Amino acid sequence: MARNPYLPYPARLEETIVENDAKDIKTFRLAFDDPAGAAEFQYLPGQFAELSLPGMGEAPFGIASSPTETGRLLFSVKRTGLFTAELHSIEPGARIGVRGPMGKPFPWDRVAGKDLLIIGGGFAFTTLRSAIVYILDPANRSRFGSVLAVYGARTPGELMYRADLAAWQKRDDIGVHLTVDKPDQNWTQHVGVVTAVLENLTPSASNTLAIVCGPPVMIKFTLLTLAKLGFSDDSIILSLEMRMKCGIGKCGRCNIGSKFVCKDGPVFTREELKALPAEY
Ligand SMILES: Cc1cc2nc3c(=O)[nH]c(=O)nc-3n(C[C@H](O)[C@H](O)[C@H](O)COP(=O)(O)OP(=O)(O)OC[C@H]3O[C@@H](n4cnc5c(N)ncnc54)[C@H](O)[C@@H]3O)c2cc1C
Ligand code: FES
Repeated sequence: MARNPYLPYPARLEETIVENDAKDIKTFRLAFDDPAGAAEFQYLPGQFAELSLPGMGEAPFGIASSPTETGRLLFSVKRTGLFTAELHSIEPGARIGVRGPMGKPFPWDRVAGKDLLIIGGGFAFTTLRSAIVYILDPANRSRFGSVLAVYGARTPGELMYRADLAAWQKRDDIGVHLTVDKPDQNWTQHVGVVTAVLENLTPSASNTLAIVCGPPVMIKFTLLTLAKLGFSDDSIILSLEMRMKCGIGKCGRCNIGSKFVCKDGPVFTREELKALPAEY
């Protein structure tokens, strides 16, 4: 019998990792109570889940771990309001519900065989972390061409996943360019917005797919730069963060025209988005 999609898997918080100097972004490592639940929760990078806390309701978050990281389920959450503040206050051992996985992942069949340009800004790097870990896994790496990642934040202290970033920068099968708006005295990498870095790197658009996640203003200017670099609308993949409730295409909270962002997205090509009313 199919599982009730409104029923969360019971899980517990195993570990909390503070990601930024402002301490308002934390990564939560969760473990399912029941090994059967862990086996059922099959996801791919780009998907999200609804996390719930007793008496507090639930909210959607991108899955920051990769399915290749067996037994490791990660969500990185910025404290913005009531639910996320409560999540930030809980301690290891706390009960937490996980409903999902939800939405469409990045289009992995289409990505195979292509070169990849991964562009992230701010705390929206969560599902991009998942994608990069997935691509770099020895079982997957040969399925993809070259990988170039550009990740920007306001300050060095706002970059997430710093241990991962350092490890990726030591590899020769991925190029990782980090940039900040405001450097500190120890910063030796790029300074400026991600679009400036892209314009310097001039990545080829030939046989390349671009995956972009970030705040709306970053997305707006990145799309202009990608168009200048020759990327077609069909070769640009974006992930949207609309307000959501059910997460399964039932309540109508997240629709744009005829599409439900929770079910038909959150991952769309720019070409698909252009065909929708401009509500996002
Ligand atoms: C598919 C999807 C994936 C997401 N992934 C992540 C993630 O990986 N990490 C993360 O920290 N957050 C993510 N979010 C956003 C997250 O769901 C909201 O921050 C959360 O619901 C806020 O709940 P709250 O009760 O703390 O804040 P609220 O009290 O509901 O809101 C606080 C403030 O945040 C704004 N806000 C709330 N939800 C959103 C939203 N969806 N988009 C933009 N602004 C919003 C409100 O307008 C308000 O200004 C995602 C959202 C979606 C739809
Ligand atoms: S959140 Fe209910 S339809 Fe998308």
